Amino acid sequence: MSKSIKLAILGLGTVGTGVINLINDNLDELKRRSGRDIVITEVGTRRQRDDIDPNIIQNSDLMAAAASDNVDIVIEVIGGTTLAKDVIMHAIKNGKHVVTANKALLAEHGNEIFAFAEAHNVHVAYEAAVAGGIPIIKVMREGLAANKIEWLAGIINGTGNFIMTEMRDKGRPFADVLTEAQELGYAEADPTFDVEGIDAAHKLALLASIAFGIPLQFDKVYCEGITAITLQDVNYAEELGYRIKHLGFAVRREGDGSGDNSTAGIELRVHPTLIPQNALLANVNGVKNAVLVNSHPLGQTLYCGDGAGAGATASAVMADVMDLVRVLGSKDSNNESTNGHHVPHLAFIPEQLSDTPILRAEQMITGYYLRVHAHDNPGVLADITRILSDAGINIDAILQKPAHKLGQVPVIILTLPVVESQMNIAIEKIEKLDTITDKVVRIRLDELA
Ligand code: HSE
Repeated sequence: MSKSIKLAILGLGTVGTGVINLINDNLDELKRRSGRDIVITEVGTRRQRDDIDPNIIQNSDLMAAAASDNVDIVIEVIGGTTLAKDVIMHAIKNGKHVVTANKALLAEHGNEIFAFAEAHNVHVAYEAAVAGGIPIIKVMREGLAANKIEWLAGIINGTGNFIMTEMRDKGRPFADVLTEAQELGYAEADPTFDVEGIDAAHKLALLASIAFGIPLQFDKVYCEGITAITLQDVNYAEELGYRIKHLGFAVRREGDGSGDNSTAGIELRVHPTLIPQNALLANVNGVKNAVLVNSHPLGQTLYCGDGAGAGATASAVMADVMDLVRVLGSKDSNNESTNGHHVPHLAFIPEQLSDTPILRAEQMITGYYLRVHAHDNPGVLADITRILSDAGINIDAILQKPAHKLGQVPVIILTLPVVESQMNIAIEKIEKLDTITDKVVRIRLDELA
């Protein structure tokens, strides 16, 4: 067997420990697949650990570990966007290939990091950054390379999906399930990233860039989390044949053909969404993630698996390591065109990235679930439906519940897709009606998935 591949694992939290365990468990398989011995030579940890193999150097100086002569591939699993960025840039500068699970860092600074890596003829691999163990980056960059991606929709936060599933199936309180997700190693260090949709927005920014060949634009992703979802809405949705899932959407819009191109561009949005109960994504539960991709000419394909946790993330990290082992192999055998044999970071040649605009929230097109609370007076429903019809909004279903307190009735309305600016106007008018008692609750609805 040719010389060993030497790894540094920087960060020994859930993921770093998962990578060590995976290597210990599957080393023979890894060697047989790569033809190389794979050795962890250094770990970067601020606190010395007595459960680490004494042959592995425990380095509290993470910058030194990232540049060590004793290392071929640097695995960054520290998290965050400060030290992790410094460490990755330092590793690149020192000619190291990098594997990272850090979606926040790549979504926010990926354009700079990838350009720096290309300039230094090394790779930054990031399978573990999106959808845990599902090899979605490989699929999108390689498996679907011949297709034009039209849209993708996915459950891309395991913690959020776990919480929504437990609430719906077992009626468990939100905070209780979140604590369990933290104990299971699913949640981010700051779990508001999970429940406010930020983690999903990071991942969506990465997926969209690979899908459409656009630069990373995390700041343009429309983002809503799950904290405002009530059991009441979950139950009304079920009654109407829908399920509420937290989804990320990246959609190419060609315009409406009227010559008015105000809706042409790309929608990037994460939000709770009503989808039909029989949709495949509606039945992806617990910590599972799933990404549904619609591409031409292939059509729809679905990728599903564990989206968080030590084993799932370590699986994705080591898949990248295995790819890089092959790149290093060709380098050792004097193959000068290492980069030419590797897929570009965002799947498209960097000079060919497109400037297609990202649509603003008011330009986005979705259906809606509206919950309106009104006094139980004659004509209320007529007033609401007239406002919707004046705004050109097509109603798909209406559910009116009997008055439950002080003569107040909840009216649930499902609409067909509408441009958000039209819906904003209609909701403003509905809320001004004397008969309306509360703010209108709105949740997007999509038949796409
Ligand atoms: N906190 C993330 C999630 C971990 O729950 O999906 C995987 O990226």
